[in-house]
Amino acid sequence: MLSLFLKLVLLFLSCFATLCKTCNQIDKESLLSIKLNIYSPTINWTSSVDCCLWEGIECDANGRVTHLQLPRRDLSGSISPSIGNLTHLSHLNLSHNHLSGEFPSSLSSKVIRLFDLSGNNLQGTIPSSFFQLSAGNLESFNVSKNSFTGLIPSFSRTETSCILRILDFSNNDFTGPIPPGLGNCSRLQVFRAACNFISGSLPDDIYAATSLEELSLHVNSLSGPISNTIVNLYSNNLTGFIPQGIGKLTNLTHLYLHVNNLSGSLPPSMKNCINLIKLNLRNNKLEGNLSAFNFSMFRHLGTIDLGSNNFTGSFPSTLYSCKSLTAVRLSRNNIEGEISPEIVALESLSYLSLAQNRLTNATAAIKILTGCKNLSVLFLCKNFKGEMIPDDITFSYAFPNLQVLALSKSQFQGQVPSWISNLRKLQFLDLSLNQITGSIPGWLGTMTSLFYIDLSYNLLSGEFPKELGGLPMLVSELQAAKKIGASRLELPLFIPPNINASNEEYYSLVSLPPSIFLQNNGLSGSIPIEIGQLHFLQLLNLSYNKFSGNIPNQISKLTNLERLDLSGNNLSGEIPASFSGLYFLSEFSVANNNLHGLIPSGGQFHTFSISNFEGNPGLCGDIIEISCSIQTRTSNNPVPSPSESSKKELVYGLTAGVVFGFIIGSVGGIFYPIRVNSLFRTL
Ligand SMILES: *[C@@H]1O[C@H](CO)[C@@H](O)[C@H](O)[C@H]1NC(C)=O
Ligand SMILES: *[C@@H]1O[C@H](CO)[C@@H](O)[C@H](O)[C@H]1NC(C)=O
Ligand SMILES: *[C@@H]1O[C@H](CO)[C@@H](O)[C@H](O)[C@H]1NC(C)=O
Ligand SMILES: *[C@@H]1O[C@H](CO)[C@@H](O)[C@H](O)[C@H]1NC(C)=O
Ligand SMILES: *[C@@H]1O[C@H](CO)[C@@H](O)[C@H](O)[C@H]1NC(C)=O
Ligand SMILES: *[C@@H]1O[C@H](CO)[C@@H](O)[C@H](O)[C@H]1NC(C)=O
Ligand SMILES: *[C@@H]1O[C@H](CO)[C@@H](O)[C@H](O)[C@H]1NC(C)=O
Ligand SMILES: *[C@@H]1O[C@H](CO)[C@@H](O)[C@H](O)[C@H]1NC(C)=O
Ligand SMILES: *[C@@H]1O[C@H](CO)[C@@H](O)[C@H](O)[C@H]1NC(C)=O
Ligand SMILES: *[C@@H]1O[C@H](CO)[C@@H](O)[C@H](O)[C@H]1NC(C)=O
Ligand SMILES: *[C@@H]1O[C@H](CO)[C@@H](O)[C@H](O)[C@H]1NC(C)=O
Ligand SMILES: *[C@@H]1O[C@H](CO)[C@@H](O)[C@H](O)[C@H]1NC(C)=O
Repeated sequence: MLSLFLKLVLLFLSCFATLCKTCNQIDKESLLSIKLNIYSPTINWTSSVDCCLWEGIECDANGRVTHLQLPRRDLSGSISPSIGNLTHLSHLNLSHNHLSGEFPSSLSSKVIRLFDLSGNNLQGTIPSSFFQLSAGNLESFNVSKNSFTGLIPSFSRTETSCILRILDFSNNDFTGPIPPGLGNCSRLQVFRAACNFISGSLPDDIYAATSLEELSLHVNSLSGPISNTIVNLYSNNLTGFIPQGIGKLTNLTHLYLHVNNLSGSLPPSMKNCINLIKLNLRNNKLEGNLSAFNFSMFRHLGTIDLGSNNFTGSFPSTLYSCKSLTAVRLSRNNIEGEISPEIVALESLSYLSLAQNRLTNATAAIKILTGCKNLSVLFLCKNFKGEMIPDDITFSYAFPNLQVLALSKSQFQGQVPSWISNLRKLQFLDLSLNQITGSIPGWLGTMTSLFYIDLSYNLLSGEFPKELGGLPMLVSELQAAKKIGASRLELPLFIPPNINASNEEYYSLVSLPPSIFLQNNGLSGSIPIEIGQLHFLQLLNLSYNKFSGNIPNQISKLTNLERLDLSGNNLSGEIPASFSGLYFLSEFSVANNNLHGLIPSGGQFHTFSISNFEGNPGLCGDIIEISCSIQTRTSNNPVPSPSESSKKELVYGLTAGVVFGFIIGSVGGIFYPIRVNSLFRTL
């Protein structure tokens, strides 16, 4: 009320200064009929008040409406053709509402300057003449995040008549090619049309738009060669070489060409792009001797990802001059040789992935890398074929910031190295697919940040250590809340959610499911009841070991479990009936054991197939279509107490909103960690 009063006072005062005009009658009627088609809980336009005072409206000195700006007001309905009667409208901003219906093609586009209908649900096509009609004045046009279809209208303009600075068509369903005509828009700074179904090749004249700072066309179906100006073209089918002319773009800061089909080597002229901050060429068919490229002028380079190409040579020594580097990913190439001590010059280095190359001398590599005090992610998997796993007393108390350590798939020999026990910040440990012998050390269960352990496919023997049942991150919510950072990693981690599945991209550690993978080893003895304390565990795989004895009832306390695989052991007794309370279980197998008795029913159990129970001659129940005799039905498994089951309902209630995604994720038998980690949701 006060602000209205002030506005009235101001208007009153300004009426003395200029000859005050109240709202033009045609404009007022147009606005009222616009309002008729719009449903809004809050818009309070009343005809008894001067329309120039209405919320979201501004007028010029003649009382003509120039601004209609009601972003984020929960508006639904459609935009009435009466908007065309607002012939002096220069600013239209109805972004972030729920408007549906068609593009307001009646709009008087002659004077419009700022046009923002982004983030609605508008449909249909944009009239092909729109950019011709809105002659001269249009500076900014944003229709991103709608459901527009058809072609992007063409821009044919003379050089003097185009003052466009911003064009944003992204996140719609546009088809067809990018129209020509942008070249005459010498002031164009941003052109976005990412995430559509745009096809064809890039029009050449786009490179004539000399002010262009951002060209964002990722996730489309563009094809053909690329010309000299390229910034943001990732996830397309672009082919050919990175053009020599790239070296002319000395001001280029971000070059994203990942996930395309580019071939050839890095053009030598690229070394002139001395302002590069981020370079991502991952997943192409690039090749050539990486050590022959001179990176030393990239003083500002912070992130480089050349992964999944076919580069050869050794780790390029000129990269050691790029002192700003924080993230280096050269994994999945053919890089050979040893890591050089010079790497410690990269003082800010926090992410290093060299997985799947041909590096040698793991012990020397780790020794050198202890000098990189800021390392938080270290991926060296699939190198060092058959060497001894690095184990040296001098590695203790190194890596004060290491959160991720992956040394898998290298046929490493030796035992789980004890220096790992001092990595206080370690959250993720992958030593799978090696030839590690000995037992699982109990100290693993005391590591304060660890929540993802993969020791699968090794030669480990001995028992499941009871201490592992006390793993702080999986036991105590308080501990978990303290430790896990949700910060975005500089580059994603590529981790297969399943041994046979393709890699998933993880941009933060929070989204990784808390897991223990011990399958395919020689572990024996019984599964300790302490396992029941790991409340936050989501994936547990103990399959293909030599575990014996009963399946502990306590596993039914792991109410966050999504995958439980106990197959291929020597387990006997019954499947605890309380397992039917594991509401999130989407994958379950006890195949090839020595179990007997009734298979629990209810809960998730009706979704499991016969194969998950096969190889246990004594099992019976509806699922496997074998009826039980009277004796086997007398279960010795206690029914959960009332308080316990109501707790489960609470958990179920808290996470019920995501159950749908989780069920979809399990369709097809492949597990995807879709469910938002309940551990972190409840924090
Ligand atoms: C209309 O609502 C806006 C925002 O809620 C408020 O600032 C304005 O004073 C109201 N105008 C009238 C005429 O009630
Ligand atoms: C406003 O526009 C509508 C639709 O274009 C038209 O039918 C109507 O006559 C116009 N109203 C005024 C007051 O000009
Ligand atoms: C429209 O309004 C939104 C929300 O206030 C704002 O972020 C956006 O910049 C505006 N659009 C234009 C073109 O000014
Ligand atoms: C267009 O609008 C969307 C949603 O409001 C916004 O995220 C985007 O930054 C805008 N585009 C430009 C180029 O400003
Ligand atoms: C660009 O402008 C020139 C004149 O300045 C004109 O001849 C040409 O047709 C325009 N190009 C397009 C695609 O409109
Ligand atoms: C790229 O081409 C392949 C084969 O022609 C096709 O399967 C794929 O969908 C295309 N990808 C895109 C993003 O257009
Ligand atoms: C790079 O930017 C500088 C400063 O903005 C400018 O003077 C120079 O012309 C630009 N170079 C190119 C090739 O665009
Ligand atoms: C990628 O390039 C190769 C040749 O380098 C070609 O055979 C293949 O068809 C291309 N794939 C796509 C999807 O364009
Ligand atoms: C790669 O280039 C470096 C530096 O030019 C050179 O020393 C090395 O021999 C080259 N390696 C191969 C395999 O060509
Ligand atoms: C790389 O370029 C820098 C600067 O031009 C030069 O000093 C250095 O000798 C070059 N290094 C190699 C290995 O060619
Ligand atoms: C990678 O390069 C090597 C030789 O440099 C070649 O033998 C191999 O076929 C290439 N691999 C791919 C996937 O292009
Ligand atoms: C690894 O490097 C160290 C230090 O450079 C060296 O002493 C050792 O012999 C190397 N080991 C192998 C197997 O090459």
